[in-house]
Amino acid sequence: MAKEPRTARRERIGRPAAGQGGKPPHGGPRDLVDGPLPAPLRAGSEAIQAALLGWFKRVGRDLPWRRGTDPYRTWISEVMLQQTQVDRVVDFFLRFMERFPTVTQLAAAPEADVLRAWEGLGYYRRARQLHAAAKRIVADHGGRLPDTAAGLRELPGIGRYTAGAIASIAFDRPEPIVEANSRRVLARLAAHAAPLIGTTGDGPIWEIATALLPARRAGLWNQALMDLGAMICTPRNPLCPRCPLADHCLALATGRVGAIPAATPRRTVIELEETAVVVRRGSKVLVVRRGAGEWWEGLWDFPRLPAAEILAPLGCGRRRVVGHCTYSVTHHRVAVTVSVCAASRQGLRRDDLEWVDGESLGALAMTAPGRRIAALSRGAGVAGGRGAGAPRPRRG
Ligand code: ADE
Repeated sequence: MAKEPRTARRERIGRPAAGQGGKPPHGGPRDLVDGPLPAPLRAGSEAIQAALLGWFKRVGRDLPWRRGTDPYRTWISEVMLQQTQVDRVVDFFLRFMERFPTVTQLAAAPEADVLRAWEGLGYYRRARQLHAAAKRIVADHGGRLPDTAAGLRELPGIGRYTAGAIASIAFDRPEPIVEANSRRVLARLAAHAAPLIGTTGDGPIWEIATALLPARRAGLWNQALMDLGAMICTPRNPLCPRCPLADHCLALATGRVGAIPAATPRRTVIELEETAVVVRRGSKVLVVRRGAGEWWEGLWDFPRLPAAEILAPLGCGRRRVVGHCTYSVTHHRVAVTVSVCAASRQGLRRDDLEWVDGESLGALAMTAPGRRIAALSRGAGVAGGRGAGAPRPRRG
């Protein structure tokens, strides 16, 4: 789209929708009197909705979960997208749907299988909650997802954003959403310059999202907002000349696109060090399942020192350092020294301890550092065998 002179754009902002005398018809913003929308957006809401929906129809992304509006597919995709980028989610989504095509199959699967299918997506709490929610859907809702945002929010792992996304996309409910991309679009559109920190900081943006929401086709509108944020209204170097909402954008009109949304202070990175121990006994190595409240709860890993309660009963010999690796989790950066030792005794029987060969190691749901530690120790002749390192390639 050719860039229009700034004056022309300013004049257009604030002009009431044609023929409405400033009063939008059914389908316009909900609160016209004292709502959260700046007056020019209130007046232009119909034109904004039409421009964005038209743009989305022409250039919206073709993503696998958008082929239809099946609630189960929508739910799985939205949970995966909660903390993971679209590009990364695509393959995981396709594999997951192949492995668990229905909510009934997901509910019936052992949790270990669900965690294994989730491996690589991170934030495993999502997978555990997804599994718990599937069981509830089967047990309490006859295998059907609730069709309202309020009903969806009763399920584990479904918060305000995910409930709004599923209710609007799969059930055509007029529910708003706010996530990283739409948050930026809405903040710029309304020139909302206050910092958006945490959930309280998002409050005004939710109000803007609610006020701008069309009464019909809310699912398409929400997806269009997300695509606009991902493709045009990007954090840096936004493509304003190609934006379908440029004529309405108050940040653009006032020269503040680069300053909105306000930068949020970065959390200080905490540096940690730890020593992992790969204990070998014959052709097997010892793995330990991460406990409640730990990072990667429920996934398998190698013990970390001191771990005396595990290592002492095993009669371990001298430890040998075989390498180093690092990993990041939340705002921590962890440097790991990887050591290996041989056990002379089997040690205790505990549910969270297993002796596994290389093949079984490959099939376990393992933490990301656990995979790296396995690869390093395999290079040193320990934890060997096919499948011990990265997950075996599946359909992709
Ligand atoms: N991010 C979160 N949900 C999304 C969706 N449905 N489409 C694209 N990006 C998203």
